[in-house]
Amino acid sequence: MKIFLDTADYDAISMRYDTGLIDGVTTNPSLIKKSGDDPFEAIKAISESFPDLKSISAEVVADLACDMVEQAKPFMELDNVTIKVPCTVEGLRACRQLRDLGATVNVTLIFSAAQAVLAAKAGATYVSPFVGRLTDNGCDGLELIKTIYDIYARQPLGTEILAASVRSPEVVALCYREGSDIVTMPPGVFDRMYESVLTREGLAIFQKDWDSINK
Ligand code: G3P
Repeated sequence: MKIFLDTADYDAISMRYDTGLIDGVTTNPSLIKKSGDDPFEAIKAISESFPDLKSISAEVVADLACDMVEQAKPFMELDNVTIKVPCTVEGLRACRQLRDLGATVNVTLIFSAAQAVLAAKAGATYVSPFVGRLTDNGCDGLELIKTIYDIYARQPLGTEILAASVRSPEVVALCYREGSDIVTMPPGVFDRMYESVLTREGLAIFQKDWDSINK
């Protein structure tokens, strides 16, 4: 059960890294754009500053597999960087080539079980089903996680399920229940995982009683 942060924001990672609960980071071009940083420099800074992260996804964007592989090469020099490719014919070709070159690969933009099958066959280290975007489009993202889990359990090829596009702590928990190995989430969703009004109320009572004992 691994927790990844879905952000390219250095400070957002830094603020949560010391909890010891964060196993990795995922980024995409939209998140890099939001951070305002150069893609390579952003990933390099994360890789060098947070050595306990097991995987930092850096996404490549090109029409052809050979161009994706070329884009990936500088990232592959960095520690613990995973190359993220889209689930297209060329993306899966790139996935196979990158695996042969020794990279770990995250196949992203997964919206069906069939795509998850192909990604596993291409040697993906991780597949990223987009739970929230499926729900936005009237489909059951959690059902997809369960289906992929069942397929991978029956036909194991070593690919891990990395649930993405997850926007609430409730959905985070359900992704794990349906079989996700990893959930990547925005920092704010991670923060809200701690929250329960009953914890806050219970703590206030304990604090009051503690204070009165120690008066
Ligand atoms: O990891 C994918 C994620 O960044 C997409 O999330 O909320 O834009 O669908 P969202």
